[in-house]
Amino acid sequence: MMADRTSGINCRSCAGLEDRRFFALYGSSSAIRVPVHIRMDKERKLIVAGNWKSNKTNSEAVALVSDLIRELAAVKEVDVVVCPAFTALSDVSKLVLGSNIRLGAQNLSDSGYGAFTGEIAPGMLRELSVRYVILGHSERRQFQKEPDALVAKKAANAHANNLIPIVCVGETLAEREAGITEKVVEEQVRGSLAGLTAEQVESTVLAYEPVWAIGTGKTATSAQAQEVHAFIRQVLTSLHGEAVARRVRIQYGGSVKGSNARELLQQPDIDGALVGGASLESKGFVEIIKNAI
Ligand code: PGA
Repeated sequence: MMADRTSGINCRSCAGLEDRRFFALYGSSSAIRVPVHIRMDKERKLIVAGNWKSNKTNSEAVALVSDLIRELAAVKEVDVVVCPAFTALSDVSKLVLGSNIRLGAQNLSDSGYGAFTGEIAPGMLRELSVRYVILGHSERRQFQKEPDALVAKKAANAHANNLIPIVCVGETLAEREAGITEKVVEEQVRGSLAGLTAEQVESTVLAYEPVWAIGTGKTATSAQAQEVHAFIRQVLTSLHGEAVARRVRIQYGGSVKGSNARELLQQPDIDGALVGGASLESKGFVEIIKNAI
C-alpha cells in the first residue's frame, strides 16, 4: 500500500502537498491510483521541528541554522521549525528572518512579565519572532515535574500571545508494558489542553513522543505510532468534534532519523516529526525533511 509518493496522477480538485501525501496511501498499481478524496478535506501541512534541547552555544546554533537555511531554501511543502536554547534565540532569529525556517522556543512561562525569576514571558519571545513553543516535553514532565495542569496554563498563555504550542504527550516503557498507553496518553491530552477553546486546540500542534523512544535509538514502529496518533485524534474528536480533530497536526517524536522518517510520515495520522538528536547536525535534519516530501 505505501508506495511511490511522487508518481500519483494529477488531481484537478486538489493540489500540492495533500495530493502527494494522499497518493502515497495508495499503491503504485495504476488500477488503484484513483483519487478517492479521503484526505482531501484535511488541512494538515507537515511540520518538522528540531528540538535542540540543552545543546549548542549561540555560535554553534548560528552555524547550524546558517547551513539549514542554505540547504532547505527550496522546501515549501513542510513547515520547518528550529527550537534552539533561549540563549541562541536572538541571533538565530535574525538569521531566519525572510527564510522558510520558523523559530520555536523550548518552554514558556505560565505568566507575563514580572517577578518570576528564571522564567521567559511570551512578549520576550514575540519580540524575537518566535512562533512556536514546545510545552510539556517528557524531559520537563520528568525532571521539572511539570503536571498537565501547568502545561495547560502555559498553552493558554501561548495562545493568548499568538504563539503556537507544541504540546508533547507520551507513555513510559513501564506504562506501555502495563498496557495503559491509551489511558496515559488520553489523560495527558485532556489535561494539557484543558481550558483551551476549540479554535485554540485546532491550531495547537501535538507531539506524540513515547518516552522509551526518546534518545534511545528505539523508534516506535510506524504501525505502533499510527495507532496512538489515530487514538489521539479520537480523543480530540470527543473533546471538540471531528472537524477540529481533523485539522490538528500531530507530530511523532522519538529517535526519528533520515532512515525511518519516510515510513513514519507516510502514516495517515502522522503529520510531522519532533526531532532531537538527529536535528543537531544539518545533514541528519535535512535528510529527514527531504524524506518527508
Ligand atoms: P530524539 O528526541 O529525537 O533524540 O529521540 C526527540 C525529542 O525529545 O523531542
